[in-house]
Amino acid sequence: FTIPQPYNEPVKMYAPGSPERGALSAELGRQMAGQVEIPVIVNGEEIKTGDVRDVVCPHDHGHVLGKVHMAGEKEIKAAVDAALSAKAAWETMDWQERAAVFLKTADLISQKYSAKINAATMLGQSKNAFQAEIDATCELVDFLRFNVTYMEEIYANQPFSEKGVYNRLEYCPLEGFVFALTPFNFTAIAGNLPTSPAMMGNTVVWKPSTTAVLSNYYVMQILKEAGLPPGVINFIPGYGSQTGDILFTHKYFAGMHFTGSTAVFQNLWKKAAENIETYISYPRIVGETGGKDYIFAHASADVDALVTGIIRGAFEFQGQKCSACSRLYVPASLWPAVQDQLKEKIAEIKVGPVTDFTNFVNAVIDEKSFDNIDAYISRAQESSDAEVIIGGQRDKSKGYFVHPTVIQAKTPDYESMVEEIFGPVLTVYIYEDKDFDATLDILDNTSPYALTGAVFAMDREVINALMARLTHTAGNFYINDKPTGAVVGQQPFGGARKSGTNDKAGSYLNLIRWASSRTIKE
Ligand code: ALA
Repeated sequence: FTIPQPYNEPVKMYAPGSPERGALSAELGRQMAGQVEIPVIVNGEEIKTGDVRDVVCPHDHGHVLGKVHMAGEKEIKAAVDAALSAKAAWETMDWQERAAVFLKTADLISQKYSAKINAATMLGQSKNAFQAEIDATCELVDFLRFNVTYMEEIYANQPFSEKGVYNRLEYCPLEGFVFALTPFNFTAIAGNLPTSPAMMGNTVVWKPSTTAVLSNYYVMQILKEAGLPPGVINFIPGYGSQTGDILFTHKYFAGMHFTGSTAVFQNLWKKAAENIETYISYPRIVGETGGKDYIFAHASADVDALVTGIIRGAFEFQGQKCSACSRLYVPASLWPAVQDQLKEKIAEIKVGPVTDFTNFVNAVIDEKSFDNIDAYISRAQESSDAEVIIGGQRDKSKGYFVHPTVIQAKTPDYESMVEEIFGPVLTVYIYEDKDFDATLDILDNTSPYALTGAVFAMDREVINALMARLTHTAGNFYINDKPTGAVVGQQPFGGARKSGTNDKAGSYLNLIRWASSRTIKE
């Protein structure tokens, strides 16, 4: 069959009284009343190991949604064996047959399971209805549909042949298994990391984040319903270091597809280096890690557009988005107007549980995350180099709530201008208009990250100058828009420097990493 033209999944709006709102509310009720047992899945078999952890709602941490069975040594080793055994049949299957499984998965999410996967993302990962829709339904469906198209483009890309010679490139999968290590903050990313290598004929061992395991389990169930053969993706919730020790010392460790913290990524890369002689091939290591994403405003910026970009960029998704804006540079000439609007608009933001659809900011993921954010705010409150000028309220008694907070830094290298916090906290540095160039140098040099960044200016020459000057500061660069919300198929996503290997998610650049090609001359 021919691969259908991909399109972005339309975003449902969840207006009061709409059918999608009714279906989602009913599903939320069911999931809150139930207790799901989430198994390890190896070779298609659900395994209940008995070593269980509670899965709770971040907005109400006393509310248990279910239990997750943690994989131990036996299950991790079995998952590798299952991936290696499933490989021969999967990689020799026609690629269109593989594509059909993922297109069917996309259709099932879109048409049948949107309420289920969105509700699980809301309750387990603390996103409001609209955010869950954008993530767990739209972005995941988009990854599946567009990646299938990129796979087709890759396979079609063939070398030139001279008369009498028949050259071809065979895009084989890697030799061994791929490890997918996925984050809590996006169900779509969790779904993309195991499926994109699998599309290219690889088999996968997937360790989900234990704080996102409910929605991730539903992704596994939908893949199965769509016809994914047993063993192609094996699901092993579990302990990081134990999993790493087993997988990274295996001869057939062929690659890792990772999204998470810079520190974990660097440790795993070192582990791969230590074991490099064990492997039969050099592993493909693809990762998206931390960020200190910026908005830089020029004096010619449109203040209304700038303030909207700041608020949406910094506080949507509780700031727990790798792309979220967390440092802001504003010229002194604009600051009074920007500050007034920020104060007014942030005061209108509702903070609270996901079950009330009018809340814009929900809980952060867990206590560790809350405590880390809390410590940054406390230090800013006490520091002579910084001042908390908006927000600062936080409370973890029932759920892990942090109000949108703005810190003003008096020095451009104050800790929260430089370090990733991963929460609804924005730090602003006000520069003198005459120090425009020097401030760009500061922006470029004070943070190790280069994931996303946005510039706001109406002067075209300034925009051109900023684009040229800031080349290496962001893998995704936005002009007069927030630095978040990359859409699959439209803005391939990924950063450089300490933000990742920049193999753009949702593009042929990513899929091609999962092929080890053979050139054939006949
Ligand atoms: N792809 C998500 C964004 O761009 C992370 O915000």
